Amino acid sequence: MDFPLFHLDFMGNRMLVAIIAIIHVIINHALAVGFIPLVTFLEFRGYQIKKYNPEKGKVWDENTRKLLFFAFIITTSLGALTGVGIWFATSLANPASIGSLIRVFYFAWLSEWVVFVLEVIFIMIYYLTWKSSNKSVRNKKRHIIFGAWLSFFSFLTMAIIVGILGFMMDPGSWEERKTLLSGFVNPLYFPQLIFRAPVAMMMAGCVALLATMFFLQKENQWRPGILRHISFWILLWMPLAVVGAFTYYWYIPRSMIGNLPVAIATQQFQEWYDSLITVIIAVSAIGFAIGTLGVFAPRRLPKYLLIIPVLASFLFLGTFERVREFIRKPYVIGDYMYANGFLKEEYPLYQQTGLLKNTPYSSIKEITEENKTEAGEVIFNLTCTRCHTTHGINSVVRNFELMYGEEKPLVADAMKAYMKNMHNIRYYMPPFPGNDEELEALAFYIIQQQSRPKRMEGAQLKGVEVKELDY
Ligand code: HEC
Repeated sequence: MDFPLFHLDFMGNRMLVAIIAIIHVIINHALAVGFIPLVTFLEFRGYQIKKYNPEKGKVWDENTRKLLFFAFIITTSLGALTGVGIWFATSLANPASIGSLIRVFYFAWLSEWVVFVLEVIFIMIYYLTWKSSNKSVRNKKRHIIFGAWLSFFSFLTMAIIVGILGFMMDPGSWEERKTLLSGFVNPLYFPQLIFRAPVAMMMAGCVALLATMFFLQKENQWRPGILRHISFWILLWMPLAVVGAFTYYWYIPRSMIGNLPVAIATQQFQEWYDSLITVIIAVSAIGFAIGTLGVFAPRRLPKYLLIIPVLASFLFLGTFERVREFIRKPYVIGDYMYANGFLKEEYPLYQQTGLLKNTPYSSIKEITEENKTEAGEVIFNLTCTRCHTTHGINSVVRNFELMYGEEKPLVADAMKAYMKNMHNIRYYMPPFPGNDEELEALAFYIIQQQSRPKRMEGAQLKGVEVKELDY
């Protein structure tokens, strides 16, 4: 491992990344990718209506502007912050994998950044020129075309990132070719895009429906018409979202099973997989009910209950993201780099010569009776902490206790036998990358943690010490 390792011993590194990433993806999908096209569509309808009913058209226009304002504030604050946050969190949690991804996707990420900056500038222009666009028909037309452009840019940010997300699950032919394009157009690229695009549209509709309820008074005679249009938008995208979800669902195992070392270990896989079906059906039913009610009887839409489809659509996306993260394991980049940050092809080296010798930031190179606990801690940090903590979330001690009986003292031999084989028993864990001596030290450390719990500090608290490598 070429980096000093950050570690959060209570929350776990994965949780930190998960919280930031899920907030970001929800904002990105619901308030940018799906929202901008919806706003443009509503603005266009308002413009058409204004021709024969200026008063009505004005209400439409004003409500749409407010919707955009809402999205504008959240995407450029919380959205942008969490976007940067993902970079910080993932580079702390798994620097080796981010390093690899940057090398493969350098130009993709560079374009992503350029597109993102343009998107923010465009969204500002789009919002800030809204009022002046109402001065003439020509201005309005231009403004609407600008909205369409902005929609395209929002979509582009997602279309680029999805290439990287798909790659992490299944790099496809990149293994042989090692080119940007072969990595980008991976087997899960299009299935994910087909899924995400309509889901984003649907999510945007749910949010807009709820927001409009608050922006316009119940007495407003034009409110039902607007609600009807937004509901129609939800219904329109729903079949596509469902088809997209099933397509993605269908492609996941085809492309993942190849990565799974043990086909029988798919019991957990099956559980996750089944949970997807339940979520697809439940969320579609809720979306369909609200959409239909909104189209046929918009006056009867329940104001506060409209939070349910919003949350359901967030759950929909959130579940897919979790499953995506989970089934990718034991890899962080399919069949190439394990989730602990070690390259598959370098395993033989580590298992023969030992991890410590190949770790520049480790304070220990040789394990002795005196430094066994400390060495065990270093090994634990290197091999388990990308997913486990000592006593916090997904605690390693607790996991062993659950296996061997609570309250019972852990036994080194059984643990060592388990850890040597853990990748065959639980396919989501990478094989242990070190040698036997290191395995022994790790077991020793975990046993000590059971009897005398002590918080493990990551490099951010402990600092780093660089020793020369003797190859
Ligand atoms: C890629 C992430 C990852 C890595 C790396 C990892 N684990 Fe796990 N491990 C998990 C997950 C996920 C679970 C399941 C937890 C649950 O069921 O709640 C788990 C479960 C376990 C269990 C319980 C297994 C069972 O059969 O119930 C043990 C023991 C364990 N891990 C030990 C380790 C040790 C020791 C290391 C380091 C050498 C390690 N793990 C590395 C992700 C990982």
